[in-house]
Amino acid sequence: MRMTRRRFLQAAAVAGTASLVPLYLSRNAYAGFEPKDFFSPLAIPPELIGRVERGKRIFDMSLQQGTTRFFQGYDTPTAGINGSYLGPVVRVNRGEKVVFNINNQLGEASTLHWHGVHLPARMDGGPHQTIEAGKIWRPEFEIRQPASTQWYHSHMYHRTGVQVYHGLAGLFYIDDEPGRNLGLPDDYGVNDIPLVIQDRNYNRDGSFRYISNMHEQMAGIQGNDILVNGIVRPKYNVTQKQMRFRILNGSNARSYNLEFSDQREFMQIASDGGLLEKPVRLKQVRLSPGERAEIIVKFSDNENVMLQHKPLPGGNKMQGMMGMMARMMSGDDRPFSVMRFISQKPEGQVMKLPEQLATLPAWTADQAAITRRFELNMQMGMGMMGGDRGGGFTINNQSFDPGRIDEVVRLNDIEIWEFTNHSPLAHPMHIHDIQFRILDRNGKLPPLNERGLKDTVLVNPDETVRVITKFENYADESSPYMYHCHILEHEDRGMMGQFVVKA
Ligand code: C2O
Ligand code: CU
Ligand code: CU
Repeated sequence: MRMTRRRFLQAAAVAGTASLVPLYLSRNAYAGFEPKDFFSPLAIPPELIGRVERGKRIFDMSLQQGTTRFFQGYDTPTAGINGSYLGPVVRVNRGEKVVFNINNQLGEASTLHWHGVHLPARMDGGPHQTIEAGKIWRPEFEIRQPASTQWYHSHMYHRTGVQVYHGLAGLFYIDDEPGRNLGLPDDYGVNDIPLVIQDRNYNRDGSFRYISNMHEQMAGIQGNDILVNGIVRPKYNVTQKQMRFRILNGSNARSYNLEFSDQREFMQIASDGGLLEKPVRLKQVRLSPGERAEIIVKFSDNENVMLQHKPLPGGNKMQGMMGMMARMMSGDDRPFSVMRFISQKPEGQVMKLPEQLATLPAWTADQAAITRRFELNMQMGMGMMGGDRGGGFTINNQSFDPGRIDEVVRLNDIEIWEFTNHSPLAHPMHIHDIQFRILDRNGKLPPLNERGLKDTVLVNPDETVRVITKFENYADESSPYMYHCHILEHEDRGMMGQFVVKA
């Protein structure tokens, strides 16, 4: 099948109509999540280390279209960075200056946003840094934050969902000396493995099926088939006794509550912004869209274990109309498999993890100059289903307006941002530029693995989450940063605001 620009754009033209025949190439309705199917070798994305010239590390990245063979006999039109689907793991070091040549060969306008990275607003790659088709964008900034697993993705307003769905995303690793000196598994592709988890739907011709009905437009799109690093139902042959997995939920709208099929324990060592203060022992880790977790897992001889999604118990307790909407919109939430791990005779040492991994900024509520409140709402009545532009879910009853600055922050202020969710869906709220710490969820301390640095936090229905952060280093009154829900269909339909930092 020849890849044409038209095919990719078609996906967008279809969005908003409800006319596609609901027949999927992928096995529908969870049949594809049977563990017996998981045999395709996991792909490990290439690393991109760039080249150093005159003291700066330079990366060439090209946004392009291509086709990807997810299923035998079908070439799916996709998009990627320096490849046909997703992009390389960009590796940078703390303290260095980095320059990117972002060459947009997509055939349509796009942007490339550095999610989780602390940088000047003009370099952020948000909706204001549009790269027109055929143009090159050259952001340049310094890496001023600790070792961590960040990522990059398209942030083109109204097009983020469809572009990321087709593949415009990748990982961005920051390395530093303290991180290296801990002796954690860090041999890329050997005992340090990225896992980018996404869910997709397909049409009968093998093309991705993006939004095709009102429900998907409202709730965000949830796929019937899982990809890990762009591979359908993969298996990974573990060769080392102690493994580190850097997991990114790169899905548009689906949250995962991950566990191993044998309920083994693992240690979470890092969250969005880098290492936790101490490793946290877990059996499950929940990741909403945009969130990352680094975990350390032990393997022994002759193991065959699945990573799987286990729905959280309890479900939705909202009453009345909201409760009904909630149950309707959250859709099916049965358990399913994500990928398989096989270990025959794994090698290497199992080291005892350091008790202390990092020292984190200890911002306290009484240091905060201000508490900003953000009410997450669903607009009822006319336009409730969102339409293609605006409406649907809002922040403080407003839809995104690129010409409106919603918040003005003073440089070097510590602030509390308080998100209250009055809507029947959980929203993963994300703030650009900074990493925050969660003060509380409905007044209670968050779980141990949510006490590190974060840039995205899931706010459940009826929940108030307070986060605290400091806005440092970069002020630019004329260039805003975004904050938004990371369900990309919500962001594209206006569940986003913008703030500037003022000196
Ligand atoms: Cu990952 Cu504003 O985005
Ligand atoms: Cu971001
Ligand atoms: Cu949302």
